[in-house]
Amino acid sequence: MHEEIRHPCVQHKLALIRDISTGHKQFRELATEITMFVCYEALKSISVKDVEVETPLETAKCYKISEDIVVVPILRAGVGMLEGILSLVPSARVGFVGLYRDEVTKEPVTYYQRLPEQANGGLCILVDPMLATGGSTVAAIDILKEAGARKVVVVCIVTCPEGLQRVEDAHPDVPIFVASIDRGLDENKYIVPGLGDAGDRLYGTR
Ligand code: PRP
Ligand code: URA
Repeated sequence: MHEEIRHPCVQHKLALIRDISTGHKQFRELATEITMFVCYEALKSISVKDVEVETPLETAKCYKISEDIVVVPILRAGVGMLEGILSLVPSARVGFVGLYRDEVTKEPVTYYQRLPEQANGGLCILVDPMLATGGSTVAAIDILKEAGARKVVVVCIVTCPEGLQRVEDAHPDVPIFVASIDRGLDENKYIVPGLGDAGDRLYGTR
């Protein structure tokens, strides 16, 4: 299952974040804002529990989130989405998976992982702005499942049909929420039209 968030506010921010003239400060702000919109949709089915709250007038029946939430950014570009998610779910725990794409093979290389024990049993939100070939996302989900995760959802900013297919073939139980499904991949396995190298644009490298 995947869902593209086609809300006009998201589309407007996508136009800005894709723009080559957008510098790293604004790129980071936009990544945070787009993440909030996409994550808002991704969390629409999250479990809640009944609570009673005393308002100044009477007792109100309310709901609070009842699941442990673990946000897992894929290093390094995924960190650019952390602030946006944590502003929606401030009590979430955070785990990290370090992966980079080998420049020649384009396949993911794992170099770090540190997950809270609540990854086993809680809802894991895997975040990375770019789901290109899907190799990194598949590898990160493999790591989460090896750590015991049973409920995983992916939140990203830009993807393409090839990447979605690869992740859905490998992990059909994992829903993907994304701001844009772009046309495809170029000869260097970059998403087109895409937004370029997300890590470099977030952190001002290169
Ligand atoms: C980028 C991006 C994803 C991956 C997507 O990371 O942030 O993690 O590539 O590509 P894939 O779907 O083809 O695997 P990159 O390897 O550039 O590392 P970085 O975040 O450290 O810049
Ligand atoms: N990684 C990126 O940062 N951008 C792409 O388009 C593909 C992989």
